[in-house]
Amino acid sequence: MTTLQEKLQETTAFIKESGVGEVEFGLILGSGLGELADEISDPIILSYNDIPHFPVSTVVGHAGQLVYGTLAGKKVLAMQGRFHYYEGHSMQTVTYPVRVMAALKAHSLVVTNACGGVNETFQPGDLMLITDQINFMGANPLIGTNDEAMGPRFPDMSQAYHVDYRNAAKEVGAAKGLHLKEGVYMGFSGPTYETPAEIRFARTIGADAVGMSTVPEVIVAVHSGLKVLGVSCITNLAAGMQASLNHEEVVETTERVKTEFKSLIKETLAVL
Ligand code: HPA
Repeated sequence: MTTLQEKLQETTAFIKESGVGEVEFGLILGSGLGELADEISDPIILSYNDIPHFPVSTVVGHAGQLVYGTLAGKKVLAMQGRFHYYEGHSMQTVTYPVRVMAALKAHSLVVTNACGGVNETFQPGDLMLITDQINFMGANPLIGTNDEAMGPRFPDMSQAYHVDYRNAAKEVGAAKGLHLKEGVYMGFSGPTYETPAEIRFARTIGADAVGMSTVPEVIVAVHSGLKVLGVSCITNLAAGMQASLNHEEVVETTERVKTEFKSLIKETLAVL
């Protein structure tokens, strides 16, 4: 059986042979937020289909490629489109690209997503800095034998989202006159949107936003020793807080705020 290390060896060898050099920041660009990768200069673009051990992305609105190059003066490897648990991928597959980023010696991960607002002060179109997360996906990507060379058996999640990174993003946001929100992201498996009762539960236990991604990737990032910045786009109010939910609204809202989103990430990257 091929071990995770052996698979990573093959994947990173292919990526390096394709011209990818030093990686400082991994970027995961969520639904509707992938356009940021179009601003990477001197890009090297690798389709997921061509990368050994990468699964194929099935979600509409995701390009399904890695883009490497320089963004805001930093060497970045961006995922245009991610893998979701609800697509039927295992948690290990969902988080494999984060392992690859760590194997390429990235020191940090910028993770983004579209999500539903649970906090009653949030509005669709708000950007939220993630302060912490709740894993409600019913699984954890670290279940199974642990390879100590990759990370500890019991990772400390006390500061999963790096406070210095959050403060840097806050300063950038304030200078730009953005009214950035902050809050706790709660991950559900999906693919159903939540019920109103689940949203009341989420609010009661301390969630400010809900979505179907991010949580596993951040767990593996912490396991791998990466510093994490998380930015959510609140695309809608969560179930029960507006009449109905649909994917079109999610796409429309990301379209509306993408300029703001892109400049927040770029200007924050510049100062990290
Ligand atoms: N719930 C879960 N995931 C989401 C939502 C939501 O309301 N909006 C965008 N992604």
